[in-house]
Amino acid sequence: MLSLAKEGLEGLVVTSSEICAIDGEQGRILYRGVDVGSLAKQAIYEETVYLLWYDELPSRGQLDAFTARLAAERDLDTRMSTLLTSLSGSLEPMEVLRTAVSALPGCESRSKDNGWEANLSRALHLTAKIPTIVAHCHRDTQGEDRIRPDARLNHAASFLYLLRGERGTALQERALDMAMTLMADHELNASTFAARVTASTLSDMYAAVTSAIGTLNGPLHGAANQRAMEMLLEIGDIEHVEPHVENALASGKRIMGFGHRVYKTTADPRVAYLQEVLYEVCLELGDLHFYHLPMAVAATVKRKKGLYPNVDFFAAPLLYMLGIPVELFPAVFAASRVAGWTAHVMEQHNNNRLLRPLAQYVGVVDRSYVPLDKRNGRVVFH
Ligand code: CMC
Repeated sequence: MLSLAKEGLEGLVVTSSEICAIDGEQGRILYRGVDVGSLAKQAIYEETVYLLWYDELPSRGQLDAFTARLAAERDLDTRMSTLLTSLSGSLEPMEVLRTAVSALPGCESRSKDNGWEANLSRALHLTAKIPTIVAHCHRDTQGEDRIRPDARLNHAASFLYLLRGERGTALQERALDMAMTLMADHELNASTFAARVTASTLSDMYAAVTSAIGTLNGPLHGAANQRAMEMLLEIGDIEHVEPHVENALASGKRIMGFGHRVYKTTADPRVAYLQEVLYEVCLELGDLHFYHLPMAVAATVKRKKGLYPNVDFFAAPLLYMLGIPVELFPAVFAASRVAGWTAHVMEQHNNNRLLRPLAQYVGVVDRSYVPLDKRNGRVVFH
């Protein structure tokens, strides 16, 4: 007798993992056992990436070597640069990223080895190059010159520089680093699951990350940050918050950046850290509007529908205040989550069994085959 999982696989445990633990009732996230908040506040993104991949926090020497290795991989070769030129303007940023990542293997050895060392080198390659791909694509679309990566900068600071063409303040660079750390992994979210399913066929890491990018780009997942910001811009003033939320809920619309599959009774623990740093960034810029507005929306949605904001809702105004264009928000999420995707692909390849669930068939059975010239087509194709 087959047992049917809940719709959307809710509550179903499908694999074991040592990478990320989440507790939806206590509102906790641990990367390799370390609380995500302590990493966001005290570590740099590279430290978190190291922890996710190597299962230990790096020493000073290890971190310096790792940071330098990542920085050395940021540049794109001529073939990838030309590909981006041909794609920019005709595709959206996440479509460019998905296409570019699927073309990345051509730039390195075409080994089919899915062992740890080979995968680690691919993980470095992907994590280092994705921000450059996103930034080049954006600057091409704007008709601006591409910026060459600066190997002296940390990962997040370099990403901000590549996007904006100028360095952020120390606080802004720190804020992006925090956001990227908070988004670096989240257990078996939909895009990570997609990556693991692809990896479980023994397809390679590039294929797995391409699947993940396609999955992240849906509005129920990583594109919620872009939709949340578009909503905040549409609401505009605090006095429009109440009627906007009421109308949206009355018309059965989903409010982007609210609700979560795992955090149903408590807040998404990443939100408090994002709110705090958003406040500091707004204060430094002397403009608290995009702190007060999302806070008012969050309070209203909680009061009227009982829903908490998720990571996407407060990442959105933070990225906006950092001067990152709204259409790039899902790609910034991808540039952060690649650390987790690649960690999960390595874990899957290290101890693989094909992920292949079942579907309960609820369609018609025992239908006879009607020859082509005897059929009365009921469905009209246009
Ligand atoms: N706005 C309005 N109502 C909502 C929302 C929302 N954002 N989220 C859930 N609900 C309602 C839903 O209509 C349902 O109500 P009712 O019981 O009255 O029919 C109830 O809450 C349960 O919803 P559900 O669809 O069963 O919940 P789920 O676990 O399947 O969905 C979710 C989780 C994240 C897809 C959903 O909350 C949602 O669509 N949120 C908006 C999109 C979003 O912010 N996505 C980012 C998710 S977190 C970060 C990430 O992974 O990217």
